[in-house]
Amino acid sequence: MARKIIAALSDSTVFLRAWIANPQRTGAVAPSSPQLGAAMARWLPRDRESFVLELGPGTGAVTDALLKHGLREDRLVAIEKNPDLAKRLQKKFPRAHIIAGDAWDLDQLLRDCPLPIESVGAVISSLPLLNFPKAQADELAQKIRAILEPRGRWVQYSYHIVKDRSRGADDFRLLASKIVWLNLPPARVSVFQK
Ligand SMILES: C[S@@+](CC[C@H](N)C(=O)[O-])C[C@H]1O[C@@H](n2cnc3c(N)ncnc32)[C@H](O)[C@@H]1O
Repeated sequence: MARKIIAALSDSTVFLRAWIANPQRTGAVAPSSPQLGAAMARWLPRDRESFVLELGPGTGAVTDALLKHGLREDRLVAIEKNPDLAKRLQKKFPRAHIIAGDAWDLDQLLRDCPLPIESVGAVISSLPLLNFPKAQADELAQKIRAILEPRGRWVQYSYHIVKDRSRGADDFRLLASKIVWLNLPPARVSVFQK
């Protein structure tokens, strides 16, 4: 228990430091709550062989939830722009494929990855899309569409809780959307399919 509390405090400190260094990119002052992580993890693919792509894993709060909900660590590929956070995550999840890079390069990064990844069963994104211009969010959404399996899901959270459509998701079908109040701040999880 004490070890868990120390780990949570250390993640919060690392996260806050990342936010002070780059608030726009980090997009939040604290890691997501276990409740928000669980709301995202509900949408993992049923096929345990499927790869899952996580965008913006930060200190791994959502990653933890994905693994707790049965995702195989060796099926997780995560792209994190902050190289210090990426290094930390790779230590924490040694069998996962953590890529220090830009989510907007996901097509190229997955092509260059030593694993043969042609498609993924889900994209789980914590990227602060509202901090990016719409054209840039649209560009990312097209790349997500191209990498998703036909029935794959794009799960995205946002602190803009009144809107159920994430920026960039205009061409996707909205499958589900719900507010998670137990998070700082409350967030909306929306699930899209192509
Ligand atoms: C709101 S935080 C979420 C962190 C974690 N998933 C959570 O929910 O606690 C957003 C994360 O996205 C990362 N990020 C921002 N822009 C990115 C980009 N272009 N490519 C990859 N990661 C990015 C940030 O460094 C940060 O770790």
